[in-house]
Amino acid sequence: MTKPKILAFAGSLRRDSYNKQIVKLAMQGAIAEGAEVTYLDLKDLPMPVYDGDLEQSEGLPKNAARFREMLKAHQGFLISTPEYNSSIPGAFKNAIDWATRTEEKKGSTDAFQGKVVGLLSASPGAFGACRSLVVVRSILTHIGAIVIPESASVAKAHEALDADGKLKDARQLASVEKVGKRLVQVVVALTPR
Ligand code: FNR
Repeated sequence: MTKPKILAFAGSLRRDSYNKQIVKLAMQGAIAEGAEVTYLDLKDLPMPVYDGDLEQSEGLPKNAARFREMLKAHQGFLISTPEYNSSIPGAFKNAIDWATRTEEKKGSTDAFQGKVVGLLSASPGAFGACRSLVVVRSILTHIGAIVIPESASVAKAHEALDADGKLKDARQLASVEKVGKRLVQVVVALTPR
């Protein structure tokens, strides 16, 4: 059987992002469960703010098209996102918005339909950005993704992570890796044999 293909990325652009560190830890769970995981740093795909006039005059920006193709090439997504004012960061939402636009058929959600998603969040705050998960779950579900029930939020991320980007607490690490594992199990269960 071919390995399930998972795309992992954070909703933050920040170089030292806690969420980039957390999604990399969750990736270990997915890899242990037999997945082939591609890590994407959204900072490597800078996109303009979505503007219908820009879209009309210039079409889909090159990096938005790349992001769309990467989404389409994977069966599942592992995402860790920060919370900005109780919602997801604008850059993350902007990337999702561009990825639902195509040259041929405007407003297409094909990059998300049927994709299985595992969600995580992290923040230096006491709630671990868990409010952002409510928002991103809603967005992704409405554009056709299957978001698994399991998620993990890392509170006080600046204290929970060590200088090497590892979680100090073994149980917390297990809960983060479990999201990656469970994501792969659901992808496999939904893949026709
Ligand atoms: C934040 N931050 C934040 N944190 C939180 O727990 N709840 C919130 O509502 C907000 N709101 C917010 C708004 C804006 C505009 C910024 C820039 C930041 C703090 C945020 O959790 C912190 O910057 C994290 O470090 C961001 O995640 P990364 O980049 O470390 O992954």
